Amino acid sequence: MGPIPLCVLLQMMVLAVAADNTIDDQYTWPQWKVPLLRRKRTVPLSSPNFLAHPPDELSGTCGIECQRHLPSPTLNDLEKLLSYETVYENGTRTYTSVSVHGLNEEMVWSKNASSNSRHKREVYGTDTRFTITDKQYSTKYPFSTSVKISTGCSGVLITPKHVLTAAHCIHDGTDYLDGVQKLRVGILKEKTRRGKEGKGKYRKSRSRRSVESGKPSFKWTKVKQTQVPKGWFKGVADGLAADYDYAVLELKKAPKVKFMDLGIIPSVKELPAGRIHFSGFDDDRPGNLVYRFCSVSEESSDLFYQYCDAKPGSSGSGVYICLKEPGKKKWKRKIIGVFSGHQWVDVNRNGEQQDYNVAVRITPLKYAQICYWVHGDTSECRAA
Ligand SMILES: *[C@@H]1O[C@H](CO)[C@@H](O)[C@H](O)[C@H]1NC(C)=O
Ligand SMILES: *[C@@H]1O[C@H](CO)[C@@H](O)[C@H](O)[C@H]1NC(C)=O
Repeated sequence: MGPIPLCVLLQMMVLAVAADNTIDDQYTWPQWKVPLLRRKRTVPLSSPNFLAHPPDELSGTCGIECQRHLPSPTLNDLEKLLSYETVYENGTRTYTSVSVHGLNEEMVWSKNASSNSRHKREVYGTDTRFTITDKQYSTKYPFSTSVKISTGCSGVLITPKHVLTAAHCIHDGTDYLDGVQKLRVGILKEKTRRGKEGKGKYRKSRSRRSVESGKPSFKWTKVKQTQVPKGWFKGVADGLAADYDYAVLELKKAPKVKFMDLGIIPSVKELPAGRIHFSGFDDDRPGNLVYRFCSVSEESSDLFYQYCDAKPGSSGSGVYICLKEPGKKKWKRKIIGVFSGHQWVDVNRNGEQQDYNVAVRITPLKYAQICYWVHGDTSECRAA
C-alpha cells in the first residue's frame, strides 16, 4: 500500500474510536508490582573495538518453540542476563552487575503460557504498511515518538531523552557496531524557515507556506551513553539471546517531543483483537515513517511472534497498544515490546530454520531494568 490520503486515515481513526467505545472495561492497563533491580558493582572494561557490522537478518535464534525445551532461568541466571554494559560517548565502557529483589512467580510468566496456535507464516502477499506522508501525523504523537538510529534501525522515545531500540542495532553479540562510536538519533521535524522575512501580517502567512511546502526531515541528536543487557551477548544467554534484544540510548539533548510510556501486559489475550502497532523507518521507503498493525500469533513470556509486514530499518521500533487507564475513561498508548525483526528461528534445536517476525516483550523484569537505566534510581520503578 502506498501513501494513504488523509481522509482515509481520519476515517480509520474514527472507526477505531467507535470500536473502542463498544469495548468494556476489561481492556484496562493492568497494575503491576515490579521487581527491584539493584546495582551490585560497576567496573571499567577496555574500550570496544567497534568493528561489527549490522547483521542483515538474525539467524539461529532460539525462538518460542525452541525455548520450551530449555530449563527456566534461575534467579542467578536472571541476574547475569540483566547485568549490563554501558558505552559512553568518549568510547569508554563499563560493566555493571545487578541483583534482583522481590521477584515472585506472577512476575515471571511461564514459558508454557503460549496462546494461539501458530499460523504458518505466509506473509507479505499484500503489503499492508502505511506510509505516513502527511506531516500533520508524522510529526505528531504517537508517530512523533518514532526515531531513526544512525546505524540504520528505528527506535522510540520512552522519556524526554531516552530511546528504546533493539540490541542488535548496537551490538552483534560479540562487538559493538562500527557506527556506535558516533551514534546519533534522528527525530522527524517539520522544516521551519524562520526569521528574516519581515514582520507584520505577511510574516505569518509566509512562514506557514514554507512549512506547508517542506517535507519533514531528520534532526540528528548525539547519543551520550548506550546500555545493553548481557543477556544479548554471545556466551551469556545461549538460547535466550532473542529475549534480550533491546538497548537504551540516552540523548545529549532532549528533542522536545512527546514520548511514550512503557507498559506490561500479561497476555495478548488482553489486547483488543490481539493487535499491536508499530511505526519505524523501513529501508524501502527512505525518509518516510511507516506504520502498521497486526495481530500477535504466538507469545511466550519474553517474545511475540507476529506477521506484521516489515522491512529492515524498522527493527528497534516500539511496539505499542492502547488500553484504558485504570479508573478512568481515557485510553492510553504504551510500549509493550521492541520490534526485533525478521529472524530465522531454530525451531527444534536441530538446525531446521523457519522465519518469523519477532518482537521482544517488556516483562516486569525488563521494565524494572529499563526503568532503572532511565531513572538511575529504583524507587521510581516499583509499579508499572
Ligand atoms: C568517559 O566518560 C565517562 C562518562 O562521562 C567518564 O566517567 C570517564 O571518566 C570518561 N573517560 C575518559 C577516558 O575520558
Ligand atoms: C510447563 O511445561 C513443562 C513440560 O512441558 C511441564 O513440566 C510444566 O509443569 C509446565 N509448567 C506450567 C506452569 O504449566
